[in-house]
Amino acid sequence: METTKSVYSTGFKGLFTGFAAFLPQIDFCMLIARNIVKAYGDLQVLKGVGLEIGEGEVVSIVGSSGAGKSTLLHILGTLDTPDAGEIIFDGKPLHTMRGSTLAKFRNDHIGFVFQFHHLLPEFTAVENVCIPGWIAGRRKKDVETRALELLTMLGLKDRTENKPGMLSGGEQQRVAVARALINNPRIVFADEPTGNLDSANARYLHRLFMRLRDEFKQTFLIVTHNEELAGMSDRILHMKDGRMLES
Ligand SMILES: Nc1ncnc2c1ncn2[C@@H]1O[C@H](COP(=O)(O)OP(=O)(O)OP(=O)(O)O)[C@@H](O)[C@H]1O
Ligand SMILES: [Mg+2]
Repeated sequence: METTKSVYSTGFKGLFTGFAAFLPQIDFCMLIARNIVKAYGDLQVLKGVGLEIGEGEVVSIVGSSGAGKSTLLHILGTLDTPDAGEIIFDGKPLHTMRGSTLAKFRNDHIGFVFQFHHLLPEFTAVENVCIPGWIAGRRKKDVETRALELLTMLGLKDRTENKPGMLSGGEQQRVAVARALINNPRIVFADEPTGNLDSANARYLHRLFMRLRDEFKQTFLIVTHNEELAGMSDRILHMKDGRMLES
């Protein structure tokens, strides 16, 4: 069984209880990726990427277009499989999980905001947000109540019955964020979640992520081109040509 001893480990923290106030706020490694490799045909997209994300950390990934950010996020979020490498989530190896076990794990623990939303066009905003909650088998009414709360928090109180085709790009993006949060996931992967938002809404969304982290210790890994917003996170990772640069 994989153990994750690092600066984040609870074991380490336990040794220094008296000095706990001086240790990082993060005390547990939520996600570890090691040597992730991915190619599409001859194109080597990820060339051995590794990272460690602590529980309750908000981390941004920045890098030029085509650097492999979305590919990495999809792999870490278990939506795509690497050609090689390991992903350890909360001490469990994800790269070996398959089929319905993986689908259930993903729906229960991982929230994903796609670069291009992927809302279901036939369903209203609130239904789109509810679907992962219904799939998880939660009570219909509870899921709807939470979905409406999230949409209200995201400034969409008056748009809940609109289908995606009747929403602006930024509104669709916020519906996608609410959908990612509906099951209170341990970790949220967000791919350019502010790409279609004006600066006030973009800032608000990042503050919301920080608030959720503070209240529920949720962990966020966010791909963004927005330097200001990246600067609001706890840590920035830089990607270039399929590799993570040393920070
Ligand atoms: N399914 C695929 N088949 C073939 N090539 C792909 C596929 N998905 C991505 N690529 C290629 O892999 C490279 C990395 O793509 P990726 O989407 O990860 O980049 P990115 O860093 O997210 O870029 P952007 O900032 O533009 O979103 C690109 O050259 C892209 O064309
Ligand atoms: Mg991308």
